[in-house]
Amino acid sequence: MTAEPGTRVLKAQGQDVAPAIEAAAACLAAGGLVAFPTETVYGLGADARNGEAIARLYAAKGRPSFNPLIAHVADVEAARGLARFDAAAEALAAAFWPGPLTLVLPKRPRSGVSDLALAGLDSVAVRVPAHAVAHALLTAFKGPVVAPSANRSGHVSPTSAAHVLADLRGRIDMLLDAGPCPVGVESTIVACLDEPTLLRPGGLPREAIERVLGRALAVAAIAEDAPLAPGMLSSHYAPKARLRLDAEAAGPDEALLAFGPAPAASVTLNLSPRGDLIEAAANLFSHLRALDASGAKHIAVMKVPHEGLGEAINDRLARAAAPKAGTQP
Ligand code: TXA
Ligand code: MG
Repeated sequence: MTAEPGTRVLKAQGQDVAPAIEAAAACLAAGGLVAFPTETVYGLGADARNGEAIARLYAAKGRPSFNPLIAHVADVEAARGLARFDAAAEALAAAFWPGPLTLVLPKRPRSGVSDLALAGLDSVAVRVPAHAVAHALLTAFKGPVVAPSANRSGHVSPTSAAHVLADLRGRIDMLLDAGPCPVGVESTIVACLDEPTLLRPGGLPREAIERVLGRALAVAAIAEDAPLAPGMLSSHYAPKARLRLDAEAAGPDEALLAFGPAPAASVTLNLSPRGDLIEAAANLFSHLRALDASGAKHIAVMKVPHEGLGEAINDRLARAAAPKAGTQP
C-alpha cells in the first residue's frame, strides 16, 4: 500500500464508527498507517508484526529508529501473549486497564512483534487503551498495533484530528477522527522488569499507582546519551516558541499560558481558569500549538502545582522549555 498522495480522513463518531473501523482494520492488515484516537493522545498505528509497515511509520514520523514503540492490544489476555507479567504488573493491569498506563515488561520470545518496533530491546511496552474507537479498532484488527503519538518527531503530541493532519497529512494512509482526546497527555509508563519504576509521568497519576502497589515507585535516572525511554530526550516535546516557566505575568514580547486566575496579557490562553489539573492536561498540547500558531516567539507559562496530573504537565513543560536538540540555544 502506498501512502501518497492522500490521507483518507474518516469520521469515527456515532453511526460512522462501524464502517470507519472496518476500513481502518483492513488498511492496517494491508500494511497501512492509520492514525486513531486514544483517551490520551492520537496514535499512529501500524501492524506490530509487519516490519515494512513499521519502517514506513518511522519514516512518516521522521523518528530516530532507536526509539521503541508501544504495542496496543484490546485486553490483558492479548497483552499476556506479548509479555511476561510479574505480580506487580498483574495488579496494575487489573486496576488500571483499560486506561492511560503503559507497562514495560520482559517480552516473550515468539510474541511476533517486529524487532524493529522494539529497537532491539528484550522488553516490550504494552498498553490497553480505554477509548471506544481504539478498542473497537484493536478488536477488529485482532492483533497488536504499535502506535507512537501521531506527530512529527520532536513536535508536541496531537490531541485532535486537526493536529494530526497538520503534521502528517499525505504521509499516512488514514485518520480516524473522533474529536478531542479526553486525557490530553500521554500514558504513564511503568517498567515492571524488577522494581516497579516510573519511566514517564503521564495521564495516570503516580499516587494512584503507588496506592495499588502499596509502596513508592522507583524513578529511572534518564541519562541524556543512553535514555531508558528514548522519548524522554530532554527536548522531545517541543513547540517552536521559547518557554519561560513559573512566570507570574507575561513580559512585553511574551504570550501568556495561564493556569488559574490570570493577569492580563495581549495573547493569553488559560490551561484551566478554575485551576483544575485534569482540564489543564486536556488543554496542554492544543494550547501550546495554538500559541505557536499565533506567531508568539516567547511564551511565559504560569506555575502549575506538582500533584496528581501536575507531575506530567510539569514534565512536558520542562521538556518543551529545554533547548532543542541540534540547535544552538
Ligand atoms: O499515550 C501514549 O502512550 C501514546 C498513545 C498513542 O498510546 N503513545 C505514545 O507513544 O506516547 P510514544 O512512542 O510517543 O512514546 C512511547 C515512549 C517512548 O519514550 C519510548 O522510548 C518508550 O515509550 N518505550 C517504548 N518501549 C520501551 C521499552 N521497551 N523500554 C523503555 N521505554 C520504552
Ligand atoms: Mg511521542
